Amino acid sequence: MASQEDIFKKLIAHCKEYGFVFPSSEIYDGLGAVYDYGQNGVELKNNLKRYWWDAMVLLNENVVGIDAAVFMHPTTWKASGHVDAFNDPLIDNKDSKKRYRADVLIEELLAKYEEKIQKEIAKAAKRFGDNFDERQFRETNPRVLENQAKHDQIHARFVKALNDSDLAELKAIIIDYDVVDPISGTKNWTDVRQFNLMFSTEMGSAADTAMKIYLRPETAQGIFVNYLNVQKTGRMKIPFGIAQIGKAFRNEIVARQFIFRMREFEQMEMQFFVRPGEEMKWFEHWKQLRLKWHKALGLGDHKYRFHDHDKLAHYANAATDIEFELPFGFKEIEGIHSRTDFDLSSHEKYSGKNIKYFDPELNQSYTPYVIETSIGVDRTFLSIMAASYEEELLASGESRIVLKLPPALAPVKAAIFPLVRKDGLPEAARSILEQLKFDFKCTYDEKDSIGKRYRRQDATGTPICITVDHQTLEDNCVTVRHRDNMRQERVPIHSLHHLINEQVSLKNLFKKIVE
Ligand code: GAP
Repeated sequence: MASQEDIFKKLIAHCKEYGFVFPSSEIYDGLGAVYDYGQNGVELKNNLKRYWWDAMVLLNENVVGIDAAVFMHPTTWKASGHVDAFNDPLIDNKDSKKRYRADVLIEELLAKYEEKIQKEIAKAAKRFGDNFDERQFRETNPRVLENQAKHDQIHARFVKALNDSDLAELKAIIIDYDVVDPISGTKNWTDVRQFNLMFSTEMGSAADTAMKIYLRPETAQGIFVNYLNVQKTGRMKIPFGIAQIGKAFRNEIVARQFIFRMREFEQMEMQFFVRPGEEMKWFEHWKQLRLKWHKALGLGDHKYRFHDHDKLAHYANAATDIEFELPFGFKEIEGIHSRTDFDLSSHEKYSGKNIKYFDPELNQSYTPYVIETSIGVDRTFLSIMAASYEEELLASGESRIVLKLPPALAPVKAAIFPLVRKDGLPEAARSILEQLKFDFKCTYDEKDSIGKRYRRQDATGTPICITVDHQTLEDNCVTVRHRDNMRQERVPIHSLHHLINEQVSLKNLFKKIVE
């Protein structure tokens, strides 16, 4: 069986071969951790963004959207805390000359202990079958107890070190638990240093008047500085939310794992403004709603889990991640934070402007508290691709690569083929495309055998293939072939629109969220 690492490599190759994701400026050998989306990738990405956007602004009547600029006044980032505190703790291995995030090395160490425990449990569960009592096993098995104790010891030191910003202690954990560099295999580590992740540039032409500005590291601040504009012009009443999709930039030092960690990426963020004291109720509300949004994609409920933060960011009083099981383990794809009134209060202080909300029901003014949902477009894209990619062995003995994408997100919804390139079949096929193209992204293909054409569409996740044959000219019916089960059926041309819509409408996903 192929290892997860092999599967991941194949997925990256597939993304390139079929026009989903290319390395940026590849003809110049690429640019580290920057990627371009190709002709299929951009369609999938746009569909994904549409799914998120509509789930926010259509399904919630008290959520509206904005589109703020990437460049913001530099004081924004002083107020938000990013100038002083948006750092990663870095450590170098002196032999390999590679740089790592110290916190990630320790998280990986913790994951190794968890894996060891899970392996013991899986072995025992197999041995004892139905009689297996996991709780009792965890409480009594010496190997599990030993690994759990080590895990807890490291975890406690790690949390304390993070909360105290104790860089020496982070290094001490790495040394004490024999963490080695995966490349050199040595423990020859430097001290841990803080590194600010913001990119900066200069605005203005003359050197003496140019102003240092930052490329936004999150889209959230564009929402905070516009909160009062939207509240007033939209006559919004608390609670209400502002949603935004846009690029963010971070000078990630450890940029690995394809589009999982990029230097230029896209976020979909929503800030929900609530009464102080009601934030925990809304935090729970959005946690559950966001998980439903993910699960509605149908990639497998077991692939998601919540992970509560060990260290809360400087602005948060509660925070959790939605993690997804990628080929390299469970990883964060969305963060849900209760950000208190930190951002608005801070902008009020730095700008000197009053941005309080007057609550007519309470007859009082206050600075709203904020619940944030923040999801990475690229990471979600990766999770969808990883869960959809399958190498299937068919009953015929042949194999096929198929992307079982959620149909609503598939780049192309229907492919239309004439059986042969003559006898009026191409014209009949094209006339079907002409009817469908107003509502669905369709493609036309007349090259190679029908089997090969099916395979090409399977590889890019097209849910429906439509074949026009000689019979079509007589009975106005076509053969529809479904991607996942390869079932074929004969249907009248006039019912195609309905049939495709039933499968690919975003409504199918929205219904699962609201039910
Ligand atoms: N406004 C809050 C915020 O930015 P975050 O946890 O730093 O929180 C939110 O980022 C989401 O953005 C993450 O869950 C992830 O999906 C995505 N993200 C963050 N850094 C990323 C990177 N370097 N590459 C790709 N996606 C990233």
